[in-house]
Order: sequence, then C-alpha cells, then structure tokens
Amino acid sequence: MKVKKAVFPVAGLGTRFIPATKAMAKEMLPVVDKPIIQYAVEEAFNAGIEQIVFVTGRGKKALEDHFDRSFEIEHALEKKGKTDMLRQIQQLVPRTGTIVYTRQHEPLGLGHAIWCARDIIGDEPFAVLLADDLIQSPKPVLSEMVKKFDRIRASMAAVMEVPDDQTDKYGILDAVEVENDIVRIKDMIEKPSPKEAPSNLAIIGRYILMPKIFEYLGQKQSGAGGEIQLTDAMKSLLEEQPIFGYKFSGKRFDCGDKAGFQMANLAFALERPEIRDRLIGFIKEIQKDF
Ligand code: G1P
Repeated sequence: MKVKKAVFPVAGLGTRFIPATKAMAKEMLPVVDKPIIQYAVEEAFNAGIEQIVFVTGRGKKALEDHFDRSFEIEHALEKKGKTDMLRQIQQLVPRTGTIVYTRQHEPLGLGHAIWCARDIIGDEPFAVLLADDLIQSPKPVLSEMVKKFDRIRASMAAVMEVPDDQTDKYGILDAVEVENDIVRIKDMIEKPSPKEAPSNLAIIGRYILMPKIFEYLGQKQSGAGGEIQLTDAMKSLLEEQPIFGYKFSGKRFDCGDKAGFQMANLAFALERPEIRDRLIGFIKEIQKDF
C-alpha cells in the first residue's frame, strides 16, 4: 500500500497564455529559470514516487525532451568547461523508465485525463499532481501527504481556504476537522457559485487516491462545464470509503492564471540570493508609482 506512482495531467492547451503557448506547452513556462512542470516532478520524486505518468496531448513534445538527455547541450557545456551547469542538466533527467507517457485523445476533463492512466497505475494507491498549482512551503506538500497516507490509509486531497467569491474556480468541500491539519470530507462539489458552496475550503492540486476511483471515473459522467470531473468521482467514492483533506502550510500560486503566474515568479525569485536584492530594490522603486 505504498504510494509509488503519480499521475500528471498535462494535456491542457493553456489558452489563457496565448500567444506564449501557441507553439509551446504551458507546463514549460518558466518560474524564474525552471519550467513549471519541473517543480512538481521534483516534488513527486522527493516524496518517494518511483514512477511518473504524464497524460499528454498533441503539442507536448517539449515535455518529453525536457526530461530526456540533450547530448548537444551536454557536449557544448563540456567543451566550455561549464561543469556545474553540465551536472545540473544531467541530474534533471530521471532514471530511465521512471517517466511514462500516455495520451488523452480528447479534452474531456480532469477526471477523464486521470482515467487514461488506469492501466499504468493498476490496483494501487497513487498520487495526482496538478502542476499549475505551485506551492511554496517549508514542508513539501506531497511528502507530507504520503506520510499522512502511511498512517491514515485513505484517499486525500490538499485543501486550503479560498476567498468566498472564488468558490466557482475550485472543488469545494463540506468537511469536519479531525486533527490539527486534517479534515474528514463529508461532501464535495465542483465549481459551485458562492451561494451553492458549502464552505470556502477548496481542493488544491495534490491528491492521493485509492484505485477504486477508476471505477467511478470509468462511468464518464459529465459534470461542471460539461467535463468529466475528478471531484464527482471522489464524491461517489465517498459513499464507500472515507476521504480526507490535508490543510497544508505555505503559499499556493495558481500558475494557470496570469496574475498567479507572475506572483509565483516573484515569490520564487525572492528566494534566490543571487537576484533577491536587485528585485527588492526594484520593487521599492516602482512601489512609489502605485
Ligand atoms: C481542478 C479541479 C478542482 C480543484 C482545482 C485546483 O480544477 O477540478 O476541483 O479545486 O483543480 O487547482 P481546474 O483548475 O483544472 O479547473
């Protein structure tokens, strides 16, 4: 019952970032100097995940290339004696066979994307990471969830409170607190209006799911926005098995949103000693014009 595999739904078109994403996968947009996807991949491997399943679509070739060797670049760096950079680029490539790719042939929703990985996951609990949700935390979220899972042995999702008027962007929970940072989910609804929302506690893109979820995803019922929703399948699973929410600590950035993406860049850049001071100076200077 160890969580060894993680699914990354990465088939989305990234229309919110056109024209930047016209010919480039949105997951390759950099936060400081790393593509968004790399943060989540590192988080997964650091949490003990042994195999990553990318559910991709057309136009995502750059993702495969990013996690592959580039002999051309390696050769050039070697010739120039840039050994640090060479090591960095070599370390980025996961062990052969640890990333597998499958395709979602039609954009039918998050639930459908995860269902596409069913045969690769098989009959074991697995993680799901939505790379758009970038989390800056002293305790990496998936590692914490894996630890909780080892004890609780039930499906769970990362959760946080969101502003009351933004419930229609998230899966929203009706839940009761059972521990300091753990809630037990009683009900959930995908993208409710603030009026319909049972609370302002939202699901954020980190999950650990029991394989039973595939049965419900396989029913392919469409929900909010006409899409096959993971939240709806989890709601059905809830009738059979408990599901918990983990209230993570740290800042979450929605990199699928232009403002959120800029905030992520700023927050992660301020963690870099080599550019921090210059940025702070610049922020102070432009602040005068606000
Ligand atoms: C997805 C999920 C939603 C969750 C959100 C977190 O929505 O369907 O339940 O709250 O991710 O980012 P999306 O952002 O793909 O519309």
